[in-house]
Amino acid sequence: MTYLPVNLAYEEHGNGTPVILVHGFPFNRSIWYPIVPNLEQKARLILPDLRGHGQSPVPEGVYSMRLMAEDLRALMDSLQIDKAVLAGHSMGGYVCLAFAKAYPQRMAGLALVATQAASDSPERRASRQQMIDEMRRKGIKAVAEAMAPAVTCQPELVDSLRKMIMLMNPKGATSSLKGMAERPNAQEWLSGITVPSVVIAGTEDKLIPLEKPKVMTQLLGRAWLAEINGAGHMPMMEQPHAVSTAILQLINSL
Ligand code: MLT
Repeated sequence: MTYLPVNLAYEEHGNGTPVILVHGFPFNRSIWYPIVPNLEQKARLILPDLRGHGQSPVPEGVYSMRLMAEDLRALMDSLQIDKAVLAGHSMGGYVCLAFAKAYPQRMAGLALVATQAASDSPERRASRQQMIDEMRRKGIKAVAEAMAPAVTCQPELVDSLRKMIMLMNPKGATSSLKGMAERPNAQEWLSGITVPSVVIAGTEDKLIPLEKPKVMTQLLGRAWLAEINGAGHMPMMEQPHAVSTAILQLINSL
């Protein structure tokens, strides 16, 4: 299988260990802004927009997690980064797990934020198709209305999350939903991931309940769990200090 990468939009902050911060669906790189000031003294932060998201290209076709991992590999090549810490939020975590399987030698450490390793249940797959159908009728608003209130336990964040989702191209959203629905079960290769890893999970996450990151931590080779109290599915925005601390611990452990 050949994968044709695209040139991702990205921004950089700080100096030190390369850390690539990979946002989830249907967001963009700005979700990481609250933790940038805490990490940029210690790390060279690279914040890409995944394909179909933010300012990146919106190509046709299904965005498999493996294909999006290829985009990250191409970005690392273009920045001449041989090895990096990868930190992935939710769908970004699925992408990082695909990257870990394809390019283990390019990964120095792994942070998995509000994410899981298991593939979709048949019910979850059906609900993704429903969302695609809804989007055909109502546009991206359908996604914004469903997701913005569901992803955070902090009501004051809902409005800015809704606005962020409204910026998303519906074609990119459809392609990503299809890619997530067909992703393989990463539990099968978790034990082969031997780099230091931290699993960061909000205790109030309704989308990916704590049980799933706990299972993932147990299956990973060298991982620890950072439970974030008072955070839902967007811990980097809800509890930026605690998330920064966990990522700094990972960097210091390398
Ligand atoms: C995400 O936040 O990236 C996605 O909602 C995760 C998912 O739908 O599985």
